[in-house]
Amino acid sequence: MRERERGPAREIETEHYEAQQGHQGCVVWLTGLSAAGKSTIATHVARRLFEEGSHVYVLDGDSLRQGLTRDLGFSPTAREENIRRAGEVAKLFRRAGFIVLAAFVSPYRKDRDFVRSILDDGHFIEGYVSADLDTCIGRDPKGLYKKALQGAIPEFTGVSAPYEPPLAPEIVLDTTAQSVDQSVHAVIDLLDARGIRKARARG
Ligand code: ADX
Repeated sequence: MRERERGPAREIETEHYEAQQGHQGCVVWLTGLSAAGKSTIATHVARRLFEEGSHVYVLDGDSLRQGLTRDLGFSPTAREENIRRAGEVAKLFRRAGFIVLAAFVSPYRKDRDFVRSILDDGHFIEGYVSADLDTCIGRDPKGLYKKALQGAIPEFTGVSAPYEPPLAPEIVLDTTAQSVDQSVHAVIDLLDARGIRKARARG
């Protein structure tokens, strides 16, 4: 059929994607200190949902900073812009019905609240990945704390820049007290409670 005869294309709404995929879209936003375990939990939850046939995507600070946000540093205004861009990308994925696992230090409450404000109610799940600073320093997988403590990295979160814990997160994942598996289950259980996960995968 020629374009003119077909009439205007109907826009694909979020509900259409969700109906096709069998689950809702949402953004699970994991915040916490560097080395708290955000990316590990995000990757495990994503893998589990992926294997159930869900549409998932992981966004994390380290990978976005290789491209989309590579022009940004770690000052409060640079982080604000980093989180704004990440939040807008997460919103696009959510609109396409994806379950987004977002792992960003996102140390400032107002920046996280901005992301919450651009996503509709119930589809932004703030997860506080909590681990005390000494534990994170002890883990130090990238050797960044060591450098930061020597003064070689300015404005390092927890050392020379603040971290504002969420006041009312939807979920707290204490990685000093629970295993990765327990954190992953806790996130999945919350998705179930919200009716987000594929119905046939629940239970
Ligand atoms: S955020 O604060 O803007 O949300 P983001 O999550 O994108 O940060 O990136 C954090 C990662 O960048 C850390 O896990 C760490 O590997 C690296 N990094 C480099 N410099 C800093 C810094 N000054 N503060 C925090 N993380 C830093």
